[in-house]
Amino acid sequence: MSRLLLVDDEAGIRRILGSLLRSAGHEVVEAPGLTKAAAEIAAGVFDLVLTDQKMHDGDGLAVVAACREADPTLPVVMLTAFATVELAVEAMRLGAFDVLTKPFQPEQVEAVVRRATERTALLRENALLREELQRQTGEHGLIGESAPMRALREMIARVAPTHATVLITGETGTGKELVARALHASSSRPEQPFLEVNCAAFTETLLDSQLFGHERGAFTGADRSRQGVFEAAHRGTLFLDEAGEMSLPLQAKLLRVLMNGDVVRVGATTPRNVDVRILVATHRDLLERVKQGLFREDLYYRLAVVPIHVPPLRERRQDLPALAEHLLARVARDLRMPPRTLSPAALRKLSQYAFPGNIRELRNLVERASILARHETIGPADLPELTPDDAPAAAPAGDVESWVATLDERLDLRETLAGVERRLVARALESAGGVQAEAARRLGLSRSDLSYKLRRLGLTASRDDGDV
Ligand SMILES: Nc1ncnc2c1ncn2[C@@H]1O[C@H](COP(=O)(O)OP(=O)(O)OP(=O)(O)O)[C@@H](O)[C@H]1O
Ligand SMILES: [Mg+2]
Repeated sequence: MSRLLLVDDEAGIRRILGSLLRSAGHEVVEAPGLTKAAAEIAAGVFDLVLTDQKMHDGDGLAVVAACREADPTLPVVMLTAFATVELAVEAMRLGAFDVLTKPFQPEQVEAVVRRATERTALLRENALLREELQRQTGEHGLIGESAPMRALREMIARVAPTHATVLITGETGTGKELVARALHASSSRPEQPFLEVNCAAFTETLLDSQLFGHERGAFTGADRSRQGVFEAAHRGTLFLDEAGEMSLPLQAKLLRVLMNGDVVRVGATTPRNVDVRILVATHRDLLERVKQGLFREDLYYRLAVVPIHVPPLRERRQDLPALAEHLLARVARDLRMPPRTLSPAALRKLSQYAFPGNIRELRNLVERASILARHETIGPADLPELTPDDAPAAAPAGDVESWVATLDERLDLRETLAGVERRLVARALESAGGVQAEAARRLGLSRSDLSYKLRRLGLTASRDDGDV
């Protein structure tokens, strides 16, 4: 049994079709027009939608579009008394499963309902399998279980199936491109092309022709006409990296694509229509560029429909061990050598470093150490270029946040805080060489406070000094 939504503004048709479908064993929800249909689609889980085309409050094509938006696996069959080739093409382009012409035979309806619901079941099963697989493999290689990474993955999962434009921001090397690929891979059209253009890598003229294509003779050297990436990415995803670097005239052309899908080749007068999901990334503060008059405000708001920020590595240091392990394995595979491991001391050294170059820098470090390390295990001495982060004040807020987020909501507060206290005190003692007076100074405690704490926490100092 399937759950169907039947949209038609004629009560007679709803009655006849409804009873036909119900007697075939389906659950049928009826909607007398677009508004009700949209509400039902947004609220309910259906296996199939059947919609009339011409209704008093609008066109059934809008129902097709609403279904695509709500759930890419949900099929829509359009019923029409005015079937033309153009209408059928338009309906299919919007993603309709089929178009049935009125009047129709009961068998026709039953057949199309069977085909459509079978396909839905298959698609949803595949989607479930894919999700499970992605969960197991850490989704497109985005490693990390810290709170910011989990929030990021959740955001990707929510946004990916829609057609929304996404603005991906973040420092250099944080994984913006990986996020863009993940968005495409989890989109409703992962089998369609994913194309990427780095806007900072071209001069304005070249970028123009790269993006929009050109006609023969448009400029010196244009001896053939060529399509741009917008056309090549038709139905797929176009990732514009470093989009903040685009010149104002090109920004105007991009705005036009976003507004109505129109692409104008260099040297052409008539636009071509494309259907492309656009993702952009930038390491710049675009709003700041807007203020400086370097970036169009209207374009900014079109791009930033869904902003996704990729946090820097120093705000999710707890991901370091997993990331390092992942990168060690990858580097080993690339270099065709057995994977090395990091000693705990090397890991500690890494976790004190600020990583201005983020994960790309971590990868480089791991790669260099893998090649140069003398032993199978990489020790702190194999990471000579690292100096500890001397601006620790910038990090804790994020770290504490993500650490707290990993804790169970039901916990023994005193026990948990004592654990933290114990580790901080132990660390201070260790780095003070066991000298209590020095450890107390580093912790901002009096000596008697510290010795009280040591007793209470069950820590005994390795050396009880006098007045050192
Ligand atoms: N969460 C992650 N898990 C595993 N690998 C990652 C992760 N994030 C980034 N990487 C790796 O780090 C490197 C840099 O990532 P990427 O190229 O996506 O960064 P970017 O933000 O686009 O950088 P830039 O601003 O310099 O263009 C890549 O090798 C990528 O595979
Ligand atoms: Mg990049």
